[in-house]
Amino acid sequence: MSATPDLAIASQASVIAREAGALLRDYYAQGVTTEYKGDVDLVTEADRASEKLIVQRLHEAFPAHGVYGEEGTRSNIDGEYRWYVDPLDGTTNFAHGFPVFCVSMGLERRAPSLAAGQDEEIVAGVVYDPLRDELFTAEKGKGAYLNGAPIHVSHIAHLAEALLATGFPSRKRHDNPNIHFYQQFTLRSHGVRRAGSAALDLAYTACGRVDAFWEFNLNPWDTSAGAALVVEAGGTMSGFDGSPFRLDSKEVLATNGLLRDELLGFFAEMFAGHVLEDIPTPAEFAARRAQRGAS
Ligand code: IPD
Ligand code: CA
Ligand code: CA
Repeated sequence: MSATPDLAIASQASVIAREAGALLRDYYAQGVTTEYKGDVDLVTEADRASEKLIVQRLHEAFPAHGVYGEEGTRSNIDGEYRWYVDPLDGTTNFAHGFPVFCVSMGLERRAPSLAAGQDEEIVAGVVYDPLRDELFTAEKGKGAYLNGAPIHVSHIAHLAEALLATGFPSRKRHDNPNIHFYQQFTLRSHGVRRAGSAALDLAYTACGRVDAFWEFNLNPWDTSAGAALVVEAGGTMSGFDGSPFRLDSKEVLATNGLLRDELLGFFAEMFAGHVLEDIPTPAEFAARRAQRGAS
């Protein structure tokens, strides 16, 4: 059996993610006050404290690396390496006591020779779920791991047998069609989970707990680490039209590879306006129910 490769960067980042996770666990146990960043975009003291700790530790561990954090950190971001940090992915869950959230840290490398428009590379990713003590790690070319054991995407080859995951945006909620995709995918698969943490959704795609994940409006702090996990676990990352995934991609489709073509075809059908499966409106349903009751 081949030895597990040494994930030097991810290992150092894991220590930081675990420390931040322990901090989140403490805040979660004691309860936090919720503030609003937008319509239903929540933030808590725990988000800020976790980012502060992660940034400090990253600077100590990797003095030459930049850090780009969801809660506002923009430090040394013109260098070759940049960490994207989501100090608490799943804040809404966290604030409501729903036990699904994590710390997410992804490392981007932009080689000095990279021309404008050329793709950056994601060289490492760490996602830590402090309530389950699950640490997902990956480094480019070295595989993906859960608590040190190798992970792989699932072998499900047909949408009809797949379990999927998605999420909904917390901003501009009225300007998003995802509920239609949610409905149609639900009718054609084993189901769609909406657990509230995009980074964990990607980690779960990487380890085969779900077979694919999509979302409309993500940010690099949500996706950078998870993308490294999915790709290193043998899956695919792309846009809904199959375009290559980039860190600034808002629309993200992660699959186990086997489902990719079927899902891309499905997205194309949906965007072309084809009604795939019809369901009654609440009013139609109520009318039919009343008719059944009367007969
Ligand atoms: C959110 C979560 C959620 C996703 C949202 C994200 P946050 O991140 O990942 O699952 O649906 O799009 O914004 O705000 O909890 O860090
Ligand atoms: Ca997030
Ligand atoms: Ca967050």
